[in-house]
Amino acid sequence: MAADLETQVGIIGAGPAGLVLSRLLRLQGIDSVLLEQRSRAYVETRIRAGVLEQGSTDLLIETGVGDRLMEEGAVHHGVNLQFDGERHRIDFAALTRRHITVYGQQEVVKDLIASELADGGTVLFEVEDAAPTDVTGPNPSVTFRHDGRDRELSCAVVAGCDGFHGVCRGIIPHEVLTEYERDYPFGWLGILAAVAPSTEELIYAYHPRGFALHSLRSPELSRLYVQVDPHDDIENWSDERIWSELQLRLASPGWTLEEGPVLEKAVTAMRSYVCEPMQHGNLFLAGDAAHIVPPTGAKGMNLAIADVTVLTSALADWFHRSERAGLDAYSRRCLERVWRVQDFSNTMTELMHVIPAGDPFARQIQRAKQRYVATSAAMQRTIAENYVGLPLS
Ligand code: APR
Ligand code: PHB
Repeated sequence: MAADLETQVGIIGAGPAGLVLSRLLRLQGIDSVLLEQRSRAYVETRIRAGVLEQGSTDLLIETGVGDRLMEEGAVHHGVNLQFDGERHRIDFAALTRRHITVYGQQEVVKDLIASELADGGTVLFEVEDAAPTDVTGPNPSVTFRHDGRDRELSCAVVAGCDGFHGVCRGIIPHEVLTEYERDYPFGWLGILAAVAPSTEELIYAYHPRGFALHSLRSPELSRLYVQVDPHDDIENWSDERIWSELQLRLASPGWTLEEGPVLEKAVTAMRSYVCEPMQHGNLFLAGDAAHIVPPTGAKGMNLAIADVTVLTSALADWFHRSERAGLDAYSRRCLERVWRVQDFSNTMTELMHVIPAGDPFARQIQRAKQRYVATSAAMQRTIAENYVGLPLS
């Protein structure tokens, strides 16, 4: 069929990667169309992580989508790491002079969709069977079904921003793709609770019963997690059982965890994954489509934003100056940061979780690392500079 839609960059997936890319491209005068398989309501309410590095926050503000973020996001100047009931504050302000902002990913998504539509952008929701075609040939396009019709979007470049389970990565032939993967023998059970947070700053806690995290969303909403078996059924976890584990694992002398109604709960497995290269012909992967980090470092959304920053500057060189070097170097440039963040996310994960059936030697090494974090300014600084995020290129 002949293409019935045309743009410069066809973006598959309207998560943080696809939406920020579209925003950045618009500011460069580059046209894009977003194709999303879910409904608008679904992507705007899907609960995900909520920590923005300072570089991510600055970028959203500079690109004109940060008004609500500035008003409702909570700026944090530190986080707490707790080992066996002893709490240690990592002071971002003193160690890095930078901060993080706690603001739900779905709020970022809402703000970006609103600005995209207000600016006259094209976002097609509930698109089925999106498939990039001819990405190594002269006429790249994306075929898909929408509103019961077969359609085709002709574009010079396809951006695969369709998350870990998307279709774009699968287009890259096996022979040229290297995949790196690590599964963890635990998952996170996350809850959203209608109760004022019992803490001003996040608490990451190691406890012999397993990891726990106290995060927040607003003055009335808390977000908490406990380490569980990745295959555990959420049905095994009554609200009472969840609160009782949180009470045990987060307990610290002189501190009380307030409980409240659980609005939402789910178990997620944890994984580290990277595919190399993140590009094939005129297909470029960004965000979870190319890599996954375990959530302990709070990096998923930030890494997606970092990728599309690199992609935008490469696409600007290409569309405005016909220079292809930036596009050719896209994967290599992104992977520098991706692997730095993989290391940090893995380090935080191994530092804070109980390794099921772990050997006693490994536990003693972990304990030594925890003591080092608790006592060494150098180690705290390492954690702080990675947590607030290295500068965006
Ligand atoms: N066709 C169209 N859209 C698709 C398809 C497809 N075949 N497959 C997936 N999608 C959509 C998903 O519905 C989702 O809205 O792509 C989007 C991908 O968004 P995310 O999964 O949020 O991934 P990304 O934008 O890379 O953001 C990374 O999201 O998963 C979290 O923790 C992760 O914070 C990180 C961030
Ligand atoms: C969250 O608020 O959902 C959150 C915070 C920190 C993390 C992961 C998730 O490391």
